[in-house]
Amino acid sequence: MKALFVCDEIEDWDLLKNIFHAHFSSIELLCVSAAKEALDTLMFEGPFGLIILECSIKESDPTLLAEEIYETIGERPLIFVGTAAMIKDRVKQEFFDTYDMVTIYNKPYKPLELKNSINEAINWAKQLEYEQSVVELDSSEFLPLKLRNFYLYDQVPFDVYIELTKTKYLKAITAHKKYTQSIIQDFQKRNIKYLYLEKNEHLNFLENSIKKISQSLYQTDKSDRVRRLQTLVAAVLVSHQYIKDVGVSDSLKEFVDLIIINFGKVIEDHTSLQEILLNFPIEHGDLAEQAVLKGIICEFMVRSMGWRSDLTRSKTGLASILHDIFLEREEWSTITYKDHPHLDDLTELQRKNFIDHPFKAAETSRYFSNYADVDFIIEQHHEQPDGTGFPRGINSGKITKVSAIFIIANNLVIQVVINGITPSTIQNIMQSFKDLYLGGPFKEPFNHLIKELKRK
Ligand SMILES: [Fe+2]
Repeated sequence: MKALFVCDEIEDWDLLKNIFHAHFSSIELLCVSAAKEALDTLMFEGPFGLIILECSIKESDPTLLAEEIYETIGERPLIFVGTAAMIKDRVKQEFFDTYDMVTIYNKPYKPLELKNSINEAINWAKQLEYEQSVVELDSSEFLPLKLRNFYLYDQVPFDVYIELTKTKYLKAITAHKKYTQSIIQDFQKRNIKYLYLEKNEHLNFLENSIKKISQSLYQTDKSDRVRRLQTLVAAVLVSHQYIKDVGVSDSLKEFVDLIIINFGKVIEDHTSLQEILLNFPIEHGDLAEQAVLKGIICEFMVRSMGWRSDLTRSKTGLASILHDIFLEREEWSTITYKDHPHLDDLTELQRKNFIDHPFKAAETSRYFSNYADVDFIIEQHHEQPDGTGFPRGINSGKITKVSAIFIIANNLVIQVVINGITPSTIQNIMQSFKDLYLGGPFKEPFNHLIKELKRK
């Protein structure tokens, strides 16, 4: 275990070092004198079981620093040390009352008392460490799963880890032990995007998730329409993970069929497209939420145009699920033309992979043999009628009507993710699309979309 002492009075370092040396020799004490150094050390040289914070520290506020530490690495034993006056002045009562693991040590230092105080914190840290044990393992034995997947459950039958370094993992969730949604939210606040599972458990997790979500989709009816939307977002998330990590299996194909059928059911649950858009449980604007919205919007256009919806829904539905699956970063999903300034910050390889992401996704769609011609819809999803799109930069003349439907849905969803979903943003976005989409193969689907969006 490691402990950190944050204090800008260097002479106090020796006193602490002596106590640790004499009584807690198995614990490595690191001393730093400034807040930034403390945060860097905690992030990159951790994990730390215990933090001791001198309240007289000059360049920062000790309570603010403690809050930042908890936000960065999570709650753990922390001792504020200082004179009674300094503690009264600089330790916020509210922070002290909120966290059980925060204690206070009043100076002047008395070695025996200080030793007892540290001992108590160490016992606490040991208990935590037992629950969240750090394991050193080869990273090739672990696979990442998006944090959001864990909202589906309140316990899992295997241990789940946070990656500390390429070889060190900290146990975050213990097998068969209940966890709360707020634990997952805490990870999110700490900017943890992935949790790690051992490889063989990873496939189990995905297969269990598919079973659980499928069951939920079969059981959902009109009275629970928001739940259907939330479950569809979870379903797309798991299908992406499965395709990327395992591939396209028969069970995955069945799952994707079920997702696509449910795009149609969403429409039957609601009275208008506007009602769906305004009530859509958009939280992250990520690829899964975008895919569900695109699938639903396409379905509306197809129905409005009087096409045989089950046949076309399959095509636009599969395109919605797959088209952005190989994007290296989710935030790049909102880049819509080939000269976009964000592309200048990418390396040449990243840029090439980004421009080609429609081809790679199109290739995957060919494994879904029940769905014809989805590959060219996916290939064209970033093309534009005026030729400013990519990867080929073709114009209206070479874009089919079914691709036009998907291109309009794709760009509408990208714009609502950027601008938010309100009646006025939708109206503004549609207005801005008029010059682009009121011609060629785009004209008919775009007019139908306008009509559908006017319906209350
Ligand atoms: Fe894309």
